Amino acid sequence: MSVLADAEVRALLAEVARRAGDYLAGLDERPVAPDPAALAGLARFDEPLPELGGDAAATLALLDEAGSPATVASTGGRYFGFVTGGSHPVALGANWLAAAWDQNTALPVMSPVAARLHEVVTRWLTELLGLPPGSAAVFLTGAAMANTAALTAARDQQLAQAGWDVQADGLFGAPELTVIVGENAHSTLIRALGLVGLGRERVRRVPADDQGRIRAGHLPADVTGPAVICAQAGEVNTGAFDPFPDIVAWARERGAWVHVDGAFGLWAMADPGRSHLTAGLDGADSWATDAHKWLNVPYDCGIALVRRPEDLRRSFAAVAGYLPPGAGFEAMHHTPASSQRARQVEVWAVLRTLGRPGVTDLVVRTCDHAQAMAAYLRRAGLDVLNDVVLNQVLVRAATDELTLALVDAVQRDGTCWCGPTTWQHRPAMRISVSGWATSGDDVRKSADAIIAAAGRGRLSEAGRAAVQDQRVRVDVARLGGQQPHGGIRHLPGRRLPAERQGPRGAARVEPRRVPPERGVHQAGHHEVGADAPVHPLPRDLPADAEQGGLRRVIRRDPGRRPQARRRADEHDRRAGIQHAQRGRGHQEVRPGVDRERLVPLGDGGPGHPAPEPDTDVQHQAVQAA
Ligand SMILES: Cc1ncc(COP(=O)(O)O)c(C=O)c1O
Repeated sequence: MSVLADAEVRALLAEVARRAGDYLAGLDERPVAPDPAALAGLARFDEPLPELGGDAAATLALLDEAGSPATVASTGGRYFGFVTGGSHPVALGANWLAAAWDQNTALPVMSPVAARLHEVVTRWLTELLGLPPGSAAVFLTGAAMANTAALTAARDQQLAQAGWDVQADGLFGAPELTVIVGENAHSTLIRALGLVGLGRERVRRVPADDQGRIRAGHLPADVTGPAVICAQAGEVNTGAFDPFPDIVAWARERGAWVHVDGAFGLWAMADPGRSHLTAGLDGADSWATDAHKWLNVPYDCGIALVRRPEDLRRSFAAVAGYLPPGAGFEAMHHTPASSQRARQVEVWAVLRTLGRPGVTDLVVRTCDHAQAMAAYLRRAGLDVLNDVVLNQVLVRAATDELTLALVDAVQRDGTCWCGPTTWQHRPAMRISVSGWATSGDDVRKSADAIIAAAGRGRLSEAGRAAVQDQRVRVDVARLGGQQPHGGIRHLPGRRLPAERQGPRGAARVEPRRVPPERGVHQAGHHEVGADAPVHPLPRDLPADAEQGGLRRVIRRDPGRRPQARRRADEHDRRAGIQHAQRGRGHQEVRPGVDRERLVPLGDGGPGHPAPEPDTDVQHQAVQAA
């Protein structure tokens, strides 16, 4: 390819800016996951290696035309997968300019601007998060590598205290080093322990509670000598925080190193309203976090913060004749990387633009959205499994098969995207609200889509397969009469395509898997396919119950203990759930889903108790009137 003239470069970049702007502007209208046509379009990339150079504009046009539709719209407002922040526009702009600069930020002499921004960002981060002044910040590809870098420093510092130089002598013959992790430590932290030679399996695991928090009472009392304890700010499923004051006190008694994996949760330190979660976090020795998650800078940008910069230098200093001794923070001597891009530029741009209140607001707003989402789904009868203390919501349908079918149906629908997970050995759907672009409207639309998917999940391929594969039975207590509603709610302002609209009056009772040893003995069950019978709403229920929302057809286990039945009745009374006796079955109606009246609900708070765990339910979405 010939050298591009100045005007051509400008035209090329202007064209890219136009295309990128169009891409971002279109995010709201397109399905979150790419559709089959977009995926098929990727075949356009299957070209032989060009023997002759081509036109740069044509290359970028192909990238946009075939590539953009086949992206996952994770930077839009309705992507709730993994823990993924979108790119804030100022971070994107800073990223473009920094790419134009193409700075290697390994040493200050290679990029004075990157070095200065590194200093500024380090100071701002420690101030914003309330971490010890003077801590070092280093930028890596993500929290996985930030964990690895911090644990390397931890290992070397602890063994140095015991008189062993790991960098010089390796780990053979080194003193024993105890590593303690919580039962729910993130997989990348465990991998990091393997990478730094401490072993994935050699760790001592402390049991966790029902939210995934380390149980402080189980911290081992018998630890002496070099030790590293790994705690977590933001459990990847629940968003829960470990009890840091207890962990730090335990470590201080023993001279142990405390590392915190705060890939997303560390940003909660910017919200004074969450100090009950973050208290004691500043007492750690190192912290790993991601800016590409909650701070909404583009991938890849992880950050390791270490209380004493010399602990990083001990592990990562490199010596070579061509490396000039320099003033200022030398990134390559504080990270496992040598050459590195100037990730701090984007972090600086977001911090400068949002300021302290803006970052706090980002945390508060996304957490509020998570609570609102949980409230919608809980009201609709889905089980919210976690205390929604942060931006994570864990959801489950009535059975494991229905949960998997729900995830599948949500992803196919395309209104939003949520991923599957496993929580306490059973499938669940995970919703993570981490993007600056998510609005209240996005949450409402997405909740509607999820609720609708819960109604038709069993109709998807996965749902069908689950129904066919499993011995699925459903309570068919016959209630008689005509069904006044179809099963799928319309999204406001959005017509569902014909193939997604269930036929009016079609069955919407979801199959419930009954363990054979119970099911076969119970009267009133038979196997059903997709066309289960329809149960009408009883006439004597209040008007709002008729106007959409969720109808639960319930069957109380006749063999249930009286105490459990009393608990269930009390739960329903407090939740305002109404029952009607029809023949051998019951119908139960929760207050209708009136989206204007929905407010974030406290978990188990007054008037809003958590779902009674052993109520035997089937969920039925009801079309809005
Ligand atoms: C708690 C925790 N630690 C580490 C990671 C790994 O982060 P990354 O993929 O950015 O390296 C994640 C990712 O979700 C996480 O949630």
